[in-house]
Amino acid sequence: MIKAGIIGGSGYTGGELIRILLNHPQTEIDFVFSTTRAGKSISSAHQDLLGQTDLKFSGEINPNVDVVFLCLGHGNSTSFLNENQFSASTKIIDLSNDFRLQADANFNGQRFIYGLPELNKSAIKAANAIANPGCFATAIQLALLPLSKAGLLNNEVHINAVTGSTGAGVGLSATSHFSWRNNNVSWYKPFTHQHLGEIGESLSSFGNAVGKLFFMPNRGNFTRGILATAYTKYEGTLEKAKALYQDFYKDAVFTHLSDEELHLKQVVNTNQCHIHLHKHEDLLLVTSAIDNLLKGASGQAVQNMNLMFGFPETEGLLLKAGVF
Ligand SMILES: NC(=O)c1ccc[n+]([C@@H]2O[C@H](COP(=O)([O-])OP(=O)(O)OC[C@H]3O[C@@H](n4cnc5c(N)ncnc54)[C@H](OP(=O)(O)O)[C@@H]3O)[C@@H](O)[C@H]2O)c1
Repeated sequence: MIKAGIIGGSGYTGGELIRILLNHPQTEIDFVFSTTRAGKSISSAHQDLLGQTDLKFSGEINPNVDVVFLCLGHGNSTSFLNENQFSASTKIIDLSNDFRLQADANFNGQRFIYGLPELNKSAIKAANAIANPGCFATAIQLALLPLSKAGLLNNEVHINAVTGSTGAGVGLSATSHFSWRNNNVSWYKPFTHQHLGEIGESLSSFGNAVGKLFFMPNRGNFTRGILATAYTKYEGTLEKAKALYQDFYKDAVFTHLSDEELHLKQVVNTNQCHIHLHKHEDLLLVTSAIDNLLKGASGQAVQNMNLMFGFPETEGLLLKAGVF
C-alpha cells in the first residue's frame, strides 16, 4: 500500500480523488488537507461518503507520503509548494495549470511531465512530478492527436465544446448559480480559452505543422461532462481516418473509437474518452466525450499515479457510467 495526501480536499476534484482512492486497492489516504474544514468529517463536505470513511479533514500535511495530489486553483499550487516541503521521494500530481506549459515545467529542481498517458506514457512512468492536463484540453487533444501525428492537421481547426457546471469548481459564481445555469446555455472566452496553450504544445510535439485552432467553449446546463466537436479539411477516406485513430489508440486503456454517434452520458462517471469520426465533403468531424472530473481531472490523475507506481493502469478506475 502507498500513502496518499490530498490538498484542497473539500473541492470538486479533491472530492473525486477521495472517492476513487477509498476504493483503490493499493492506496491508503493518509491525510486530506483543507484550509476551511480542518477537524471536520469528510462527509461534512462530501455527504455521499457518509459511512464510507472515518477520515477527517486535516490542517496539517504529512511530508513523507508517497504521493500528494494538489487540487488547488491556478497559482495556488505554486504558492503551496513554496510554503510546504515534501520529502524528496514524494511524487507530486498537480491538477492546476501551474506547470503544464513547457516554460513552466521546471519548478524547485523538479521537472513536471505533462500527464496525458495517451501521449506521454513512458515519461509518466519515470516521472516524480506530473502536470495533470486540463479538462477541455484532454477532450480536444484526444480528438486531434492522431491527425497531428499523421501530419494531417495543417489546416484550420474549428472546435466547439460544452462543459458541465462542475468544471468551474465548487465556489458559487453568477454563471454557476442554479437560477442562471438551469435551462440556459452560453459561450465564454471565445478563441482565447487558457487551455489552448497546452493543446497547441501537445499537437506540435510530433514536429508536424498544425493549423490555427479556433475554439469556442460553452457552458451547458448539466453538472458533469464535456462533449467536444472539431472539424478540419481532410482529403482521405473515413476508413483511412478510422484506421489512423485505431492505430494511435491501440494501447490506450480508456480511449476508444466508436462507430456509433456519441452522447455525453455514455462516459459520465467513468474515466473513458470516447471518439467518433464523421466525414462530410472534404471535412473530417471528430467528436470526443469525457467526464471533466474523471478523465478530465481526478481519474486521469489516478491513472498517472498508477503508471508512476507500476500499478495496473486501470486500478481503481473501472467505473460504471450512469446512462439512464
Ligand atoms: N473542476 C474540473 O472539472 C477540473 C478539471 C480539470 C482541472 N481542474 C483544475 O483542478 C484544480 C481544482 O479544481 P476544483 O474544481 O476542484 O476547484 P474547487 O472545487 O474550487 O476546489 C479547490 C479547493 O482548493 C482549496 N483552496 C482554495 N484556495 C486555497 C489556497 N489558497 N490554498 C490552499 N487551498 C486552497 C479549497 O479547499 P479547502 O477549503 O478544503 O481548503 C477549495 O475548495 C483547479 O486548478 C482546476 O482548474 C478542474
